[in-house]
Amino acid sequence: ALTVPLETLQVLKGHMMQDMRKGLSRQMHAQATMQMLPTFICSMPDGTEKGDFLVAELCQNYVRTLCVTLLGDGNQRPQVMYKIFDMPMNIMQGKGEALFSFIAKCLRQFLAGFSSPQRRFPLGFVFPFSCKQTQLDKAELTSWSKGFKCTGVEGKDVVQLLQSAINKEELYVDVVALMNDTVGTMMTSSVEDKACEVAIIIDAGTNSCFMAEAQQVEMVEESSGRMCVNTEWGCFGDDTTLSGIMTTYDQRVDKESSNPGKKRFEKLVGSLYLGEIVRHVLVALAAEKAVFTGSNAGILRNKDVLKTHQVLEIINHEDGMARTRSTLETLGLRPSERDCCRVQQVCRVVVSRAAALCAAGLAAILTHMCQSRELEQLYVNIGVDGELYRDYTSVTGLLAPECTITLLPSVDGTGRGAAIVTAVALRLADQRREVDQLLSPLRLSRSDLQRVQALMRQEMDLGLGKETNARSSVRMLPTYVRATPDGTERGEFLALDLGGTNFRVLVVRVAEDSIRMASEIYVIPTSIIQGTGVELFNHIVECIMDFQLKQDLMEQILPLGFTFSFPCQQLGLDKAVLLSWTKGFNASGCVGQDVVQLLRDAALRKQHFTLKVVAVVNDTVGTMMSCGYDDPKCEIGLIVGTGTNACYMEEMRNVGTVEGNEGRMCINMEWGAFGDNGCLDHIFTNFDQMVDEKTINPGKQRFEKLISGMYLGEIVRYILLAMVEKRVLFRGKPCPKLQTKDIFQTKFLSTIEIDGLALKKVLAILRDLDLHASFEDSVLVREVCQTVSLRAAQLCAAGMAAVVEKMRENRGLDQLIVTVGVDGTLYKMHPHFSQNLQQTLQVLAPKCSVTFLQSEDGSGKGAALVAAVACRKAGP
Ligand code: BG6
Ligand code: GLC
Repeated sequence: ALTVPLETLQVLKGHMMQDMRKGLSRQMHAQATMQMLPTFICSMPDGTEKGDFLVAELCQNYVRTLCVTLLGDGNQRPQVMYKIFDMPMNIMQGKGEALFSFIAKCLRQFLAGFSSPQRRFPLGFVFPFSCKQTQLDKAELTSWSKGFKCTGVEGKDVVQLLQSAINKEELYVDVVALMNDTVGTMMTSSVEDKACEVAIIIDAGTNSCFMAEAQQVEMVEESSGRMCVNTEWGCFGDDTTLSGIMTTYDQRVDKESSNPGKKRFEKLVGSLYLGEIVRHVLVALAAEKAVFTGSNAGILRNKDVLKTHQVLEIINHEDGMARTRSTLETLGLRPSERDCCRVQQVCRVVVSRAAALCAAGLAAILTHMCQSRELEQLYVNIGVDGELYRDYTSVTGLLAPECTITLLPSVDGTGRGAAIVTAVALRLADQRREVDQLLSPLRLSRSDLQRVQALMRQEMDLGLGKETNARSSVRMLPTYVRATPDGTERGEFLALDLGGTNFRVLVVRVAEDSIRMASEIYVIPTSIIQGTGVELFNHIVECIMDFQLKQDLMEQILPLGFTFSFPCQQLGLDKAVLLSWTKGFNASGCVGQDVVQLLRDAALRKQHFTLKVVAVVNDTVGTMMSCGYDDPKCEIGLIVGTGTNACYMEEMRNVGTVEGNEGRMCINMEWGAFGDNGCLDHIFTNFDQMVDEKTINPGKQRFEKLISGMYLGEIVRYILLAMVEKRVLFRGKPCPKLQTKDIFQTKFLSTIEIDGLALKKVLAILRDLDLHASFEDSVLVREVCQTVSLRAAQLCAAGMAAVVEKMRENRGLDQLIVTVGVDGTLYKMHPHFSQNLQQTLQVLAPKCSVTFLQSEDGSGKGAALVAAVACRKAGP
């Protein structure tokens, strides 16, 4: 009955995995027997930990105090000093206050041996009982076990209890971290470049911990990285799961323990109980007269006469038989040779069962880790403490063949690990301070955003005024587009789309019931983008001719709508003077020229005599028109891509820069330049400054440089560089590759920020950039990305809030219902941008109900619609 077959172990492993999942889940937690306690330990030592750390370790019948000196050498050779204080029996069962005061007194005595009372020490407290931890230094004892039963401690924060006891002793000691012994063991076994991510302890009791994916630890609001979880697997089977393997001996042991019905798994495994199990088996065998027929075995009825260490000696020692005999004889028994053999056999069976059960538990943890990390094969180091571990590796191998494990026996108990946890905690606290300091200028409050909104509104008003226009950084350019589509547009058009990620040529056929399009993407080499205007427009015409040839459109004269996504002073629908290049374009001889004319000139040069440009529009306008065809409420266009900009329908009476007061006109805001007059200087950080300086248009498009795809990656890169310099990233190791401009692309932000993206994928992105990132590094990089993209979305929302509020006021409405047509790679690809934008907008403009309609067809379709209206007006 005491041997557990492999199939049963397999089933047990399955149950344990199920129970682990329950324990981790918020909903099912209450039903789990394993509590899967969060430990708030999210980082492994990185070897830079340095300094003197105190540890107090509460053990079975003694208190151990340690002073560990870490040298910052990868924790290779920590110096350890320790002292053991025997604990009087009555303390374990007495008042809680007495227990903590005893520990504080031990510390006092220990410190007196080597330190001056004035010196301040951080302390790690190893408290090997089940606790509900809410911070690294805040933990309520759930319940005592292993024979402890001090009053007034359960439900209390044990860190505080220890700290007050320490304060009473007038010691300068700060309790920085509390941890379970398993965690200490895990950390002890971790050295540089060889993280240990699992630990098991089989001592008086048994327990384990492992690094879980933080996202799965649902009891804690932490979705990035990993957190060590204390499984408290000793409680596994406190429902009925273990009934199948619990023998009558186990039931007796349980009944006679200080916590009957509790910690069932522990009672099959922990050294507090193995001796007892053996004793009960022997009692039964003696009753059946199978052993000790020659002597009175009554002594075996006494609890705890047989200790687990004796059991281990019996099975481990070379002279096991002699040991058996002497052990039994000390009990007053007179064993025969056969008795000794039997006893030895019983001991073996009980211990192997314990080992097999541990192996099943370990296999459950490993498979869980392997699955939740989405790995096919898991390589992992496991810290072990306790005397039984040698036996279970082979069984684990059978139960979790996908995991390759290395066992690292803990060298000097959990104490050194506790010091490391404390050191890591302090290092992280320092790091957190540095990180917050670096990132805080990028974190905008609601009032910051309201101020940006108000400034945008102010600049809009200035920009619309005839006299004030020149003073505004937001140009508010009239577009001569006076209405959104009404569905009566018809015809066949060519369209060009220049200024986003792709240059496209299209043919658009607008019929009564549908719009059909065909398009081709053409590459414009950087040498041309930054070459001469003649080359640029020649190239464009060549692309048009190629397209017409391919589409068999050479013979037709089709009206052409031109999406030209740069700021233009428009003098009519087909006359647009380029005010400045943006987004990295810099072709010479274009600024100040009518781009339609430049296109016509090029057509002549290329002998293309049938080109008929009828309208030029900004991409925001094209997008608004394109979306407006499907949704008549769409009266705003927004682009968040390479650049950013917006347009909207303004009342003619407010447009001082165009004659006439009737109706509306679409205004191309060119909000990318918002702040170029200094009005946003309070928002810009050093990082923004550095990004701006390295662009081809420093001082220009300042708002755009906070928001759009061309720049976000660069902002992140500069922040990462600063973090390396402050030694909070990549262990401060220099990263030459990170010095390269544009190496960190905005598309990385979009990938890195995907919810639930396994951090190993983040690591892979960083490794591709030659950045040797640790797991913690990747968590930090993700935080930087999130901060930068959140700010971008919020600033965009502040701008949009100014727009919708102005439209609401214009129309004298209590509530404005409006749709924004939106396009751009960042908006479309980033996992959170649109949501952050919409949420913030709702806060900033609560009286406007704004729907965002993503443009699927690009702005070429909109340009064609504008061309259609132009043709209709011009007459047949
Ligand atoms: C495209 C539009 O879909 O989006 C372009 O057709 C626009 O006109 C572009 O410029 C903006 O996004 P991005 O990311 O390409 O700059
Ligand atoms: C830049 C251009 C602007 C365009 C925007 C989005 O800001 O100046 O015209 O709309 O990018 O592409």
